[in-house]
Amino acid sequence: MKVLGIETSCDETAISLIEAKGNIFSLKLKIISNLVASQIKIHQKYGGIVPSLAKREHSKNLPILYQKIFSQSSFSFPTSHLLPQIIAVTVGPGLSPCLWEGINFAKKISKNLKIPIVGVNHLEGHFFSVFLKKPLPKFPLVVLIISGGHTLLVFSRKPFNYKILGETKDDAIGEAFDKIGRMLEFSYPAGVQIEKLAKKGKANIDFPSPMINQKNYDFSYAGLKTAVLYHLKKHFKTKRSQNFFLKESFIISEEEKANICASFQKAAFEVLIQKTLRAAKEFKAKSVVVCGGVAANEFLKKEFKNQQKKILPQTKIFFPKKEFSTDNAAMIALSGYFHRNKTRKRLIAKPNLKI
Ligand code: KG4
Ligand code: ZN
Repeated sequence: MKVLGIETSCDETAISLIEAKGNIFSLKLKIISNLVASQIKIHQKYGGIVPSLAKREHSKNLPILYQKIFSQSSFSFPTSHLLPQIIAVTVGPGLSPCLWEGINFAKKISKNLKIPIVGVNHLEGHFFSVFLKKPLPKFPLVVLIISGGHTLLVFSRKPFNYKILGETKDDAIGEAFDKIGRMLEFSYPAGVQIEKLAKKGKANIDFPSPMINQKNYDFSYAGLKTAVLYHLKKHFKTKRSQNFFLKESFIISEEEKANICASFQKAAFEVLIQKTLRAAKEFKAKSVVVCGGVAANEFLKKEFKNQQKKILPQTKIFFPKKEFSTDNAAMIALSGYFHRNKTRKRLIAKPNLKI
């Protein structure tokens, strides 16, 4: 079955066409095309996402991507060998005006091609991003979803069954990367830049790993963010910032910046790794899945695998391919395929949808 996936929950406009066969244990998959139009350049100027601009960009980009996929004029019929049987569109969680752009676009195509729509949960989509490559994870499993909007630990006893074990009490981990990036005058989003500079630094500053000693599976990143700010204020002088959004910035060498990045990453990841592996042990998980934008981080991958080998050698750990860690529509199309029996005539945006 061919599925057209549409993703517009945040600042990436994405469309993908996949062909899938089999069930979640025996999946056969071909990703025919996977396109992402990033809006980063537009939002960078504002230091974060501006929802009205994101909505405008989605409405501009969707027909362009659609046309690219089918290489013909928008809303006309794709050639028969590429005709999808269903459309999968993200309905939440995300920014309401952005979600509506995707949903309304899906409705137009649905009417034109006379094919049904399945509404997809973006968070479940991130989980299914690891099913876009082989080998497939085995149930029961523990899923860690780490992105710009979420830090969520979930237990899945069997397919489509989710129990939230814990989540962040304040900032999401990706948000912490972006906010600390701003203090260090990186452009938005800062995850990739922090990772790159951290490679040149030493993790020689003792930042706290919040909630690491608590028995629950919750997280918190506001305290770590404040600890980095206090460290900067204590050790470095300030100057007027060149950045439109900051009054002042710190006078700091590249070497010291790199040490802060490395130390922050270590503290931020330590608690994620320990709590996830503890949950995997407690719930006797066969697999651990780590997904979402922050799962693209190579240092996190290496640390996770090192500790898993020591603590839980019999449990396998799964990360998505880098291109499918951040927002994309292939994961949405696959989620729609798994839920292909739940097509709906009436679809609405659900900005606060839970997994
Ligand atoms: O999943 P995603 O694309 O969008 C949301 O659903 O939020 O995640 C985006 C987040 C951003 O906060 C970005 O800074 C972070 O993922 N990110 C990273 C890396 N690549 C993206 N964080 C750390 N290391 C990376 N390599
Ligand atoms: Zn996402």
